[in-house]
Amino acid sequence: MPSLLPKTPQFFQLHHIEDQALATEAAAGLLAASAWASPKFFYDALGSRLFDAITELAEYYPTRTEAGIFTAHGAEIGAAALKLTGTAPALVDLGAGNCAKAARLFGWLQPRRYVAVDISVDFLRHSLHGLQREHPQVDMVGVGLDFSTQLRLPPDVLAGQPALVFYPGSSIGNFAPDDALRLLRQAREAAAGGALLIGVDLLKPPALLQAAYDDDLGVTAAFNLNLLKHLNRLLGANFDLRQWQHVAVFNAAQSRVEMHLQARLATTVRWPGAERSFAAGERVHTENSYKWTTEGFAALLRDAGFGSLQHWTDPQRWFGVFLAAG
Ligand code: TRP
Repeated sequence: MPSLLPKTPQFFQLHHIEDQALATEAAAGLLAASAWASPKFFYDALGSRLFDAITELAEYYPTRTEAGIFTAHGAEIGAAALKLTGTAPALVDLGAGNCAKAARLFGWLQPRRYVAVDISVDFLRHSLHGLQREHPQVDMVGVGLDFSTQLRLPPDVLAGQPALVFYPGSSIGNFAPDDALRLLRQAREAAAGGALLIGVDLLKPPALLQAAYDDDLGVTAAFNLNLLKHLNRLLGANFDLRQWQHVAVFNAAQSRVEMHLQARLATTVRWPGAERSFAAGERVHTENSYKWTTEGFAALLRDAGFGSLQHWTDPQRWFGVFLAAG
């Protein structure tokens, strides 16, 4: 007999973030011959809000362009996905955050179950409780998992049923091609015979890419520099933000935008137990954002084992939404 009780989301936290391990990782990056910091240090509370502000900038076209593709083709994309997964699939949302992008798909997909995956289940609680009230019939599950290391869901979550794995926002572009391939293979496994729906930013003239990562208001610069504040807190370091400059460069040979923080003058940064001197102009590498061609990304999906591919784009061909199965 069907239960008359309202459903409530279920939560699993599989990844445990230890401040000590994070501090060790951050220190190792700063002490490397070519200094680097993991992009995960962007996303403290302020960093997440600055990223939301980036998505509203005229120069930052990816968020808006991907949304436009779903506005124009959502019904068709939804119907194509259901052909691959069967009706009322489980929808697995990678990097779900506020769950807003996936929620837009509910009307077309009518999912039986919604599995929101993010590094911290705490980010998901608020969004999932809100979404559950709007969609009382959908089973909702929050999973706290660092899928950038390995994407493996708890076995009960999908119960071996085909799923639609959703990975929007061109987050796949933040992985080097080999790591992207590994993640796509795991996404194919996770779909269990279903499909992958993924958004990818496409290669375009460098001036447009450059502007998207170096806006004239300086929001992207603030977002990048905020990472140093985060490291100051985490390590007890003394980065002086006024000594550092945001640099975004398009590396054509590697087809990626690189984000760096560059020392304006020679400076020494200290934290308990260590220090690092930087020459004027020396950089800390903070993130890469790879830009794919439609053909290049289709080839990557085939390498990952997907046999059937469909894709949609915007009139300017700036962004691609791929549906991959098989
Ligand atoms: N994942 C986003 C992207 O690659 C992150 C991002 C946007 C970003 N703007 C940035 C990272 C500026 C560093 C600096 O598009």
